Amino acid sequence: MQCVGSWSREKHDLLRRYLSASGGPRRRYLPPAPGGAAFIDIFAGPGRARIRTTGALEDGSPLLALKQPVGFTRLVLCEIEPENLDSLRRRVAGAQVPVSILEGDCNDRIADVAAAIPQWGLNVALVDPYSLEGLSFDTIATLARFKRMDLVVFFPVAEIKRNLERNRVTYTALLDRALGTDEWQRTVARKGDVLKLVEVFRRQLQERFGYTTARARTAPIKNDKNVPLYHLVFASKHALGDKIWESITRRTVGGQGELF
Ligand SMILES: C[S@@+](CC[C@H](N)C(=O)[O-])C[C@H]1O[C@@H](n2cnc3c(N)ncnc32)[C@H](O)[C@@H]1O
Repeated sequence: MQCVGSWSREKHDLLRRYLSASGGPRRRYLPPAPGGAAFIDIFAGPGRARIRTTGALEDGSPLLALKQPVGFTRLVLCEIEPENLDSLRRRVAGAQVPVSILEGDCNDRIADVAAAIPQWGLNVALVDPYSLEGLSFDTIATLARFKRMDLVVFFPVAEIKRNLERNRVTYTALLDRALGTDEWQRTVARKGDVLKLVEVFRRQLQERFGYTTARARTAPIKNDKNVPLYHLVFASKHALGDKIWESITRRTVGGQGELF
């Protein structure tokens, strides 16, 4: 079990609502249709989480995907920690659909992840590392090359704000790797500029892989003091994906209306 902050509830709530709202379009890719639909989770975790402050238990992202009424034809999961892998395997053991679990660093195993994804399917990938160190644009690019691959990417703005000026050299290298370009260095110098990084990330997905950009907002996930810890960035190549994300981010788990 992973101990997480209370903000995790909001992340899981958004993911659950997105997976549920996208069930209609996904249904058209399920058997007897040939396309298929995979849920890809390259930082999968152990499958359950405990909220540190309240002790409450909640399903982790792979179980949220498995419990969807309109489900997937396959789950493709990757996890690096052996203990988490054991728990994850136990928790998905009774699944009705095939679950590929890959062990190790997802950035090394991404070709194996890609090999398990239905090429013509309607796929969605969650990229949810603990910190910027896990994010690699090359890895995301392997997923983004699929024709239909919605992306939900964790972007750790608070960590970057804390470190950009203090650990300049390290964070410059980490950001170059996460964004796949050093173009951000021209516009982002101070911690107040950090949200511009999300725009650079979106632009990369648009220019290199045909993602649409303008419409879908990011969802800031805030800590107990109302400070954004990270933004969940959603990207789709289809206007319908943006529309679904728009509709679910209008209301957060706490009933908050507008996210910006
Ligand atoms: C934030 S947690 C994932 C939580 C999960 N997505 C959920 O919502 O239930 C990040 C997970 O990624 C794993 N991890 C960290 N670095 C990794 C890497 N390079 N490759 C694969 N897994 C990694 C960690 O062990 C941890 O379980």
